[in-house]
Amino acid sequence: MKLWTGMLSGELDQAAEDFNRSLAVDQRMAKQDIEGSIAHVKMLGKCHILEDDEAKKIVEGLESLVQELEKGDLKGGANEEDIHSLIENLLMQKIGPLAKKMHTARSRNDQVTTDLRLYLREEVIEIIALLKEYIKSLIKVAEGHVESLMPGYTHLQAAQPVTLAHHMMAYAFMGLRDLDRLKDAKKRMNQSPLGACALAGTTYPIDRLYTADLLGFDGVMDNSMDAVSDRDYVLELQSVLALIGVHLSRLCEELIIWSSQPFHFISLDDAYSTGSSIMPQKKNPDMAELIKGKAAGLIGNMSQAYVLLKGLPLSYAKDLQEDKASLFRSIDTIKQSLKISAGMLTTMKVNEDRLLKAAQEGYLNATDLADYLVEKGVSFRDAHHLAAKVVGECIKKDLTLDRLSIDDYQKVSPLFEEDLYQAIDLGNCLAKRTVMGGPSPKEVKRQIQVLKDRLEIKGEC
Ligand code: ARG
Repeated sequence: MKLWTGMLSGELDQAAEDFNRSLAVDQRMAKQDIEGSIAHVKMLGKCHILEDDEAKKIVEGLESLVQELEKGDLKGGANEEDIHSLIENLLMQKIGPLAKKMHTARSRNDQVTTDLRLYLREEVIEIIALLKEYIKSLIKVAEGHVESLMPGYTHLQAAQPVTLAHHMMAYAFMGLRDLDRLKDAKKRMNQSPLGACALAGTTYPIDRLYTADLLGFDGVMDNSMDAVSDRDYVLELQSVLALIGVHLSRLCEELIIWSSQPFHFISLDDAYSTGSSIMPQKKNPDMAELIKGKAAGLIGNMSQAYVLLKGLPLSYAKDLQEDKASLFRSIDTIKQSLKISAGMLTTMKVNEDRLLKAAQEGYLNATDLADYLVEKGVSFRDAHHLAAKVVGECIKKDLTLDRLSIDDYQKVSPLFEEDLYQAIDLGNCLAKRTVMGGPSPKEVKRQIQVLKDRLEIKGEC
């Protein structure tokens, strides 16, 4: 039965009815819809808007619906318009026409946004837990590779020596910021719009603080028009999810590059790889590619939420019904992507020899070679020029910097002496980068500790 037939006597066109229906999407909020109604009816009883026994019967009816829902046998009426109609009609079947009193001093406009806030609050807690697991998996890889030299890149050209741990920790710190963003978004989400009714509150003597308290909200929304039309919390969450998607996507692109043949820095576990139907030698990083591909969807979903709101006058308009489908898709996607990213990281094999070889062949110590001359009194500009000459010589002879003979060095500058080999030893170059934020093993261990303290992780990851 429709909740709104009121002054309409004509039937809704079948196509229009199907178009209007949102049950397939909003049935996810069944639990929250019932919880919201229970709080609302308890409040109506407390404020003497309903008789005590009326409120009691309605609450009992709703509680039995919760039990059915938990057992998985809540009968869904496929023809119902939305979750609010479904729950009210199911309640009617249980307790009769008294069910109709439940909607006193309420509108679906404050109801739907209450449900959504309650629902998202729980999802955010789950996403936070998954994000923490993902960050832990990055720390785990880092902990095992604080000494694993590899090239750090700029412009995807080998630049200076870093370690795999340093590289992984960069992603871990992105994850930490995302964690803070989620926690922050949750705070603003956790405000109660219930009692704003259609848009202008009600003349009934309701107690909004009471329902907010029963539902575990941190406070009530102060303005009823804002309360029913605000979807900032949807935009904020969509934005954070898109950003997490972008971070995962960047990581995945690196995993794809690193597992390709010219690099071969890592090999992804079979559990996260697929083969080719035609080329027997292939092992494809499909999961990493999909995480990148799905990040495009997350950005699209975020944009849709922004566009939905940008031209919308206050207060409620049915446009807002379109806020949920894309949001729910984003939530599902980010949960899967986080789980799979963590799995890929903890199971991948790291090829340390290849990392080291790439570091040696990448002339990563060329800056240190220039610094060596600077210590001998040469200006950095001249030192840079001389070091570049040495690199040119090495490229001609197909040698790494540590293999070029002292005679060849001295042809470039007599200031070069035997101790230069010590200065350009990659391990030494790394160990000297003790600056805060740098890649020296000691410093990266500090970075790991900072994150572990923030995440309250004791012991190894
Ligand atoms: N299904 C609607 C939504 O998601 C619920 C609110 C309907 N309110 C209304 N006045 N038609 O937005």
